[in-house]
Amino acid sequence: MIILDSGLGGLSVVRALRAQAADMPVLYVADTAGFPYGNRDYADINARAERIVSALSTTMPNHPIVLACNTLSTLCLEPLRAAFPTHFVGTVPAIKTAAQQSITRRFTLLATPNTASSDYSNALIAQFAGDCVVDSYGAPNLAAMAEAIMLGETMDDETLRAEMGPAFFNDARGKTDSIVLGCTHYPLISAVLARLAPWPVTWVDSSEAIARRALSLPHTPPVRSMAYVTGKEDVARYRRFFTREGFADMAVLALS
Ligand code: DGL
Repeated sequence: MIILDSGLGGLSVVRALRAQAADMPVLYVADTAGFPYGNRDYADINARAERIVSALSTTMPNHPIVLACNTLSTLCLEPLRAAFPTHFVGTVPAIKTAAQQSITRRFTLLATPNTASSDYSNALIAQFAGDCVVDSYGAPNLAAMAEAIMLGETMDDETLRAEMGPAFFNDARGKTDSIVLGCTHYPLISAVLARLAPWPVTWVDSSEAIARRALSLPHTPPVRSMAYVTGKEDVARYRRFFTREGFADMAVLALS
């Protein structure tokens, strides 16, 4: 099974996979040379996704691909399915779960700007949360901040607070009681988000459901867990992180 994200966010799905199938080897691909996708032009993301999947189809054929990235899935899942015979599992914001759980009937989709404004997310909101007030907030830098924290950089609380603060509402239309983590990077820093939240909320993410769906697919696991990046210089930068996450080795995925 291949887990694909623009960066480290897909690790939230890998951790959920391992919680359900401990020790299952996976192939992880981070498009580190293309990161971040959250503010990038759609045509650009789609072109990168096609180049990556094309390279994976040649070098690691016959593995299902989990698009462990909401931005990639909400924008490119359908075009990728149309272009490749590969079995894809997409990751989309857990709007339905939040709508089922919200007590105040007001919750926020916290995601990248691309995911927050996507037709896909808006359709999920219309389909599953018609009786809720749903605020969509595209955080411009939160994925990059999460990535930096995962790589060991320190981030001051005020910067993080300013980035996540606009996801919280308390006015005549109600009070936010849940936040959908609509970017796979965010669950990786959920403890930080919970600590800095202006009031306690329920955090909802889709990694467990995606892991369950991925494990239901027929697949032959690779011999060992490997992590691939798309920038040559990123092997050194990311190695410590991937070693700590149980990956046996790293390599560069060459794109044509
Ligand atoms: N992890 C990705 C997501 O789930 C996107 C992060 C980014 O590249 O901006 O949306």
